[in-house]
Amino acid sequence: TGGIRINPSILAADFANIQTELSRIAASDFVHVDVMDNHFVPNLTFGPQMVERIQATSPVPLDVHLMIDDPDQWAPAYAELGAASVTFHLEAATEPIALARRLRAMGARAGIAVKPATAVETLFGMLDEVDQVLVMTVEPGFGGQSFMPEMMPKLRRLADEARRRGSAVWLQVDGGIGESTIAQAAEAGADTFVAGSAVFGAGDPDNAIAGLRMTAAR
Ligand code: DX5
Ligand code: ZN
Repeated sequence: TGGIRINPSILAADFANIQTELSRIAASDFVHVDVMDNHFVPNLTFGPQMVERIQATSPVPLDVHLMIDDPDQWAPAYAELGAASVTFHLEAATEPIALARRLRAMGARAGIAVKPATAVETLFGMLDEVDQVLVMTVEPGFGGQSFMPEMMPKLRRLADEARRRGSAVWLQVDGGIGESTIAQAAEAGADTFVAGSAVFGAGDPDNAIAGLRMTAAR
């Protein structure tokens, strides 16, 4: 797939100073934007109106992670506002392939995410329909949780399948990624790393991004 991407999650940023926070992650590849609806996950963040403002002020493209029910209805709005990628959960989608095709047709990268309890084999048949797959390494809903190393065999099986198909799909991990966990995720086949607290909790976020990039590449 070529290259490593570090996508800071603004869930860990100071929402009252979002513009300043975004200016501190100019060294990242994408800013990861966690949309939660208090139904699919027990937490609530923001919707398209707020994401559109984040997009207007961000130095890097948006990687939107939808933790919401009925993405079939709501996901296209994020492609419409210009998000570079829109990832929805397999567990929440009614017609995942149709939705992925629709997002791609709108010019976004289509992503599909799986919660820790969801077998990754269920999306093997969809690998040609998406641009990225997100393997959650925590139960979605909150930042600052501990990385689940037991997700690594699943990630490895996905990476093997992608390789077998000659697929260019990006393999993303999200949850508990930091200096002490990123290497094992990279070793298991991830190439795109979401990090919230490890980046925004650091004194110098851009420096933390550079550090993660080096550790992942080693
Ligand atoms: C969790 C979110 C993550 C979260 C990661 O539901 O999807 O993106 O912000 O935060 P950290 O890196 O602190 O685990
Ligand atoms: Zn996320």
